[in-house]
Amino acid sequence: MKVPIASPVMTEKMIEAAANALRNERLTLGESVFKFEEAFAKMCGTKYAISVSSGTAALQLAVQALGVKAGDRVVTSPMSFVASANSYVAFGGLPGFADASESDFNMDPAKLKDAIDGKTKAVMPVHLYGHPARMDEINEIARKGKLVVIEDAAQAHGAGYKGKKAGNLGDAGCFSFYATKNMHVGGDGGMVTTNDDKVADLCQRMRHCGRQKGSNYVHDIMGYTYRMGTVNAAVGIEQLKMLPEWNEKRRAAAKVYDSKLKGVGDLVLPPQPTKDVHPVYHLYTLRTKKRYELKAFLEQRGVGVGLNYEIPIHLQPIYRQMFGFKEGAFPVSEKLCKEVIAIPMFADITPEQISYVVDCVKEFYG
Ligand SMILES: Cc1ncc(COP(=O)(O)O)c(C=O)c1O
Repeated sequence: MKVPIASPVMTEKMIEAAANALRNERLTLGESVFKFEEAFAKMCGTKYAISVSSGTAALQLAVQALGVKAGDRVVTSPMSFVASANSYVAFGGLPGFADASESDFNMDPAKLKDAIDGKTKAVMPVHLYGHPARMDEINEIARKGKLVVIEDAAQAHGAGYKGKKAGNLGDAGCFSFYATKNMHVGGDGGMVTTNDDKVADLCQRMRHCGRQKGSNYVHDIMGYTYRMGTVNAAVGIEQLKMLPEWNEKRRAAAKVYDSKLKGVGDLVLPPQPTKDVHPVYHLYTLRTKKRYELKAFLEQRGVGVGLNYEIPIHLQPIYRQMFGFKEGAFPVSEKLCKEVIAIPMFADITPEQISYVVDCVKEFYG
């Protein structure tokens, strides 16, 4: 049997929606773009959703719309995909990091206070693997320090926290629709969510080359070509309809993995849901001291695995080079990056596939 690590869905209905958009709509900022935004904002419970060309573009626009400029520091978690920090370092923002917590792999609020300095303007918690960060504590620290909060919800479409959805827990939320995420748009794409009129207006204009609304080539703010294509938005509308069902299926699959892998070898199970925290298992990630051996063993048996991530952001070559970060700076993230291993997780994973993966893992541990 072969079980991939992820399995992006593309149904006939989604292909038809794309074809219809190609035949009938403007390819740029067509009707589907605005329909997708409306539906996505409704899902998150926010006033606005602004579609863009990638998750990185979403972060970059949100950070800039919230007033972060070159020379300002943004504090994020080093236990994340490099794009979290790239989004502001690319235009001259300074990276700050608050180490992750072992309990949920996310930014540890206790470490956040120490990471804030006079240059800090924003905090960017990441809901890693689809597990919401401790937003109440993070928001409280940010409020006291007069900092804005940008959620990196790139892996957390539909995740819940205290009755609200990811993307509606800070000043702005940012999503990625990269192919293996819980939903995609048939190509790269991203979304900014916010309740702030000004932030929404700035993001709408910045993604469209900084154009004054309703004008004919008048550009009064700095901007980019970061629009989402109409065809992608048309696919996104259909994907979004499936998201609640897909997330439930992921949660059910995670429960089965949890029950069957508990107590096996040295495995540590992923952070668990609570009455307040409803993860969406973008990845199902175990911890083990033997992950490279386990990876090789599973791959030999046709089971896909992921190492997300082997290198925390601060130790990526470019961050060492630009800012001089060294080992030991953020020990929890560095430890997690040595131990995490993701096993197959996707909405349509079958009970037989789960059993096969579990059997292979148990075989590894003898
Ligand atoms: C945590 C996180 N942040 C940001 C991004 C960037 O998204 P994109 O690849 O769409 O630019 C991703 C995904 O790839 C991600 O996982």
